Amino acid sequence: MSSAEPTGDTLDAPADSETDTPTALDEAPAASSEKGGEWWRSAVIYQVYPRSFADSDGDGVGDLPGITSRLGDLADLGVDAVWLSPFYRSPQRDAGYDVADYRDVDPLFGTLADFDALRARATDLGLRVIVDVVPNHTSSEHAWFQAALAAEPGSVERGHYLFRDGRGVDGELPPNNWESIFGGPAWTRITEADGTAGQWYLHLFDSSQPDLDWTDPWVREQFVDVLRFWLDRGVDGFRVDVAHGMIKAEGLPDYTPPADSGSMGGGQGDSAPPPYWGQDGVHEIYRSWRKVLDEYEGDRVLVAEAWVEPLSRLAEWVRPDEMHQAFNFSYLETGWSASEIRRVVDSSIEVFSSVGAPSTWVLSNHDVVRHASRLALTAENPQGHGIGPRSAGLPIPELGLARARAATAVMLALPGSAYLYQGEELGLPEAIDLPDESRQDPTWFRTGGERYGRDGCRVPLPWESAAPAFGFNSTGASWLPQPSDWSTYARDEQTGVTGSTLELYRLALRLRSEIGLGTSDLVWLDDYSDEVVAFRSAGVTVLANLGEVAVELPLGDVLLSTMSLDGPALPPNAAVWLRETDV
Ligand code: NOJ
Repeated sequence: MSSAEPTGDTLDAPADSETDTPTALDEAPAASSEKGGEWWRSAVIYQVYPRSFADSDGDGVGDLPGITSRLGDLADLGVDAVWLSPFYRSPQRDAGYDVADYRDVDPLFGTLADFDALRARATDLGLRVIVDVVPNHTSSEHAWFQAALAAEPGSVERGHYLFRDGRGVDGELPPNNWESIFGGPAWTRITEADGTAGQWYLHLFDSSQPDLDWTDPWVREQFVDVLRFWLDRGVDGFRVDVAHGMIKAEGLPDYTPPADSGSMGGGQGDSAPPPYWGQDGVHEIYRSWRKVLDEYEGDRVLVAEAWVEPLSRLAEWVRPDEMHQAFNFSYLETGWSASEIRRVVDSSIEVFSSVGAPSTWVLSNHDVVRHASRLALTAENPQGHGIGPRSAGLPIPELGLARARAATAVMLALPGSAYLYQGEELGLPEAIDLPDESRQDPTWFRTGGERYGRDGCRVPLPWESAAPAFGFNSTGASWLPQPSDWSTYARDEQTGVTGSTLELYRLALRLRSEIGLGTSDLVWLDDYSDEVVAFRSAGVTVLANLGEVAVELPLGDVLLSTMSLDGPALPPNAAVWLRETDV
């Protein structure tokens, strides 16, 4: 593992100040992230991807009892909440984002009782629980869609989805030119009950994920019920899947996206949004959902997964009567450039605060190349496209990890709420060398292997270096193969090891909470070069060196460093938090 040195350095200060310099924590302002009112404004929320977190029954797919058994590790890490990706009944054609029953747990993951047990354990540990809701589309196996297939064109049941007649003499052409986000056409033609070629249905994603028609009041009522079902079960909120896609432009006009706009890109600067993303009509849906959440005690939250640009448009999703937070994908998509990071941080804080919302920060999730690899890529790789052995510009692992640690140190010092993706606290890289035959992402299949897709960030976690499947389960089964060198990333190899990525995250989360970094204001420090991210917040100086030469450090106590320091110099691709002696 990396030889980084996260704790305890004191840079050579003048002798007289060295002795009476108080420790960092003696000076820290009052804690700011205690549980209670509007906890989400500065929370650190950890994404659990249930298929790959921990597998209690040894079938190779993670499950709810597995998560429950490992929740203590997350409390120990120091996060405030967990967000669970879907565990609902599903044929798993898109890893659970194809829901066949929103009110039940898939047997693959357990039972509703297992969910209740997880919820209870989280409460005991002081962790909040957010669940995913997937309203843009259902599974094609959902009873609503099956009923629509069995019903006539023009029926009430068809009206729940976006069925249309085809173009061409015999309706043999799709109703418009839209393409699926996963590749190929966004329309599939059905065979009617009498055996004739029939209507087409829209699916922005896989053909197994038909889009619902959100202009249908019945659809709206169903989802209010779904929200209530989980709110009554005690969830603290929802991450809303494809929160920019539920309303389509009137008439479903043809649209050709710009090349490589990313897999879920929802806007191009100031020009009109694509006819299936970011339509104004989505906002009244969230206003109605907000009213539902506000009926419940305990500060429940809505978090938008909305791939919308620019940030000023995304802020519309978090106006005071809509959602509480939106993922900041502009931040995630920012490259390894200090000036770009400063620009996106400034812009995020400005636009979100203009509507009274906290900014959020995120570097990895289950849809993008893990940041321990992405930040060292030397070729463009839009989110969702993935990387594999034949990709251009593959990263140097050590460089990627160094940058990832520095990027995380910057992120966790920023004001607002941060999202972590399981495994990043271990420094996991993208699994690049997955055998083609093991790949499961629909993107891989729908592009004929042209895009690797997202499997590389979804490989089951290593917990114990010497156990079967590195402790993911006790049988050694794993729905995606784990790279053989992942024993070095296993949690037990890193626990208590000074300088490990796990200990770096634990330290950063503890300091963030104790010092109140999540609720402080940051001030940029101008006396550094353009290649340094430099700011002060809550009395802590944060420096990240994105250039190629070492940067002189000010005198002070180093609270956290992502690399071991050899004197008062910050090496390239490293970051520190320090309390300056003279400030
Ligand atoms: C966004 C989810 O994050 C992604 O994993 C999924 O494939 C699409 N929505 C479709 O549900």
